[in-house]
Amino acid sequence: MPLSQIVQRVPPVYEKPPPFLARWFPPVGPPSLSQVETEGTAVVSVPGRYCMTHLVEGPESLVLVDVGSVADIPRIEAAVDWLGKPVSLIIPSHLHFDHIMGIEAAAKHFDAKIALSQVAHTFVSNGKRLRFVRGLSFPTAVRVWVWQGAPFFAAEDMPGGFRFGFPWSRNPFGALDNRVLRDGQAVPGLDGWLLLETPGHADDAVCLYNPAGGLLIAGDTVRNYQGGEWNEIMTDPAAYENTIARLEALDVQAVFPGHGPVLVGQGIMQRLHF
Ligand SMILES: [Fe+2]
Repeated sequence: MPLSQIVQRVPPVYEKPPPFLARWFPPVGPPSLSQVETEGTAVVSVPGRYCMTHLVEGPESLVLVDVGSVADIPRIEAAVDWLGKPVSLIIPSHLHFDHIMGIEAAAKHFDAKIALSQVAHTFVSNGKRLRFVRGLSFPTAVRVWVWQGAPFFAAEDMPGGFRFGFPWSRNPFGALDNRVLRDGQAVPGLDGWLLLETPGHADDAVCLYNPAGGLLIAGDTVRNYQGGEWNEIMTDPAAYENTIARLEALDVQAVFPGHGPVLVGQGIMQRLHF
């Protein structure tokens, strides 16, 4: 079936200029505010201090994917006001610090619940630590940090944020939703969006997929520092191979990466490089 048409525009929301290094160093340039609309839903993407936050519009409410920093909340709030609906749920794409240090504060701020995937939920509810990425070299870590604009931890993220997303963290979320998100099932509060388990970069990595519009919110499973690429940083390379094969088979015309600008166009999944 042909995909619904999508329209991309810039929402009239205040945008903080990107950090100096992020303006010059990522080959593709810094991310900017974006709104992608299709039949029955829209995704507003807000560049944050450590990652992108994506706001997904449902019929009555919004679902946020990732809040990297407490310092990002005012700009997310401006985008929430623009969409004009309350936030019902916050979903971490995976439990890495740069995607979740602001989630607990955002849940309180927006009076929303935090919904976890089955893998993340199992670890969090047992108070266990997740495996962290393997073989991350120092030069690679520095390169991606510089591409992100070389952010230091915001004062707002200390000290509470360190309980979330680090190798030692047990991620004690206080506002957990009692629904666990399962592979292939509908995302609560959204029409036409499915959750996909996409392990590889992280064991608990998930994507949100809208088949009718061909929209994929990818977390760190897809990055866009270099024009759209699979992530070189992995926890489980074999699982990542399966994830890549699964995602390459999807009909996608807009990818919302965890880092870097939104990718729009036909055949995107087939054009991603390593
Ligand atoms: Fe990550």
